[in-house]
Amino acid sequence: MPVTVNPDLQAIIDRITADMEGREDRGKVADYIPGLARVDPRHFGIAIATHDGRIISAGDATTAFSIQSVSKVFALTIALGKVGDALWKRVGREPSGNAFNSIVQLEAEQGIPRNPFINAGAIVVSDIILSGHRPGEAIGEILRFVRDLAGDDDISIDEDVARGEAETGYRNAALAHYMRSFGNIQHPVEQVLGVYFHQCALAMTCIQLAKAGRYLMLEGQHPETGFNVVSPTRARRINALMMMCGHYDGSGEFAFRVGIPGKSGVGGGILCVVPGIASIAVWSPGLNERGNSTLGSLALEKLAAATGWSIFNERDPG
Ligand code: DON
Repeated sequence: MPVTVNPDLQAIIDRITADMEGREDRGKVADYIPGLARVDPRHFGIAIATHDGRIISAGDATTAFSIQSVSKVFALTIALGKVGDALWKRVGREPSGNAFNSIVQLEAEQGIPRNPFINAGAIVVSDIILSGHRPGEAIGEILRFVRDLAGDDDISIDEDVARGEAETGYRNAALAHYMRSFGNIQHPVEQVLGVYFHQCALAMTCIQLAKAGRYLMLEGQHPETGFNVVSPTRARRINALMMMCGHYDGSGEFAFRVGIPGKSGVGGGILCVVPGIASIAVWSPGLNERGNSTLGSLALEKLAAATGWSIFNERDPG
């Protein structure tokens, strides 16, 4: 199916939202982080920022939620800006085929995480962002970066979620200590985890998240200033990583069903990028067995089918 030219996006997402609101099979809200266990599973929101500057939304698109691992896209962007391709000496770029918080590959692969989107990889990325900073400054840098991308200073970090993660983050602490034993973490583990937990605790609405993802649909360009957030090559590569690794051991299934680069989080959010066309954020807190939003994935599958936005669809050769 070729890309649909000028689809009536509002009608499409209104229809999808009505469909999602009637569904019972929502999956299970993450309960291993106290602040997330309290979220009502009945939420569903979606927002689309288009290449020509429109924002289209439906459902709970203005309710803030914990973006969790979606933040790994923004953290990676910052870290690449700091150390460039040297980052790839410390983090791989292959799909892991394992759960997001798995430790099994780390021993065989000498403390080098498979990719920057699994927890171990994102913890190395936090370590890179921490270089030359105090933890508070690094957290401030991430917050300012996301606010600037979204053009919205109301975005904040949910301290309650960050604290809850620090209190229960035994696995992340294990991953960080283990990587430190291989020399792949350079700062004190508590500081690195402090940065990582705060980044995961960013609270954003679908509209804010879709806006923050615009640079990735615009070949790395900031939509308001026109300056490059990252080079076009780097934007393409971040999108490629989202396609291959953005849903952990569910990445193949997501590519199969949706066909759009996407990054999920255990808060139930997913950010998707259709290069040159749209940045999309969906949120529904119920998760499937791989830790990805059940209704969020389904809604994106329906959106891709209605618009022809799968990147594997026919494009006008120009
Ligand atoms: O470190 C954790 O476990 C969470 N802060 C983030 C995990 C996450 O979002 C995985 N995504 N599906």
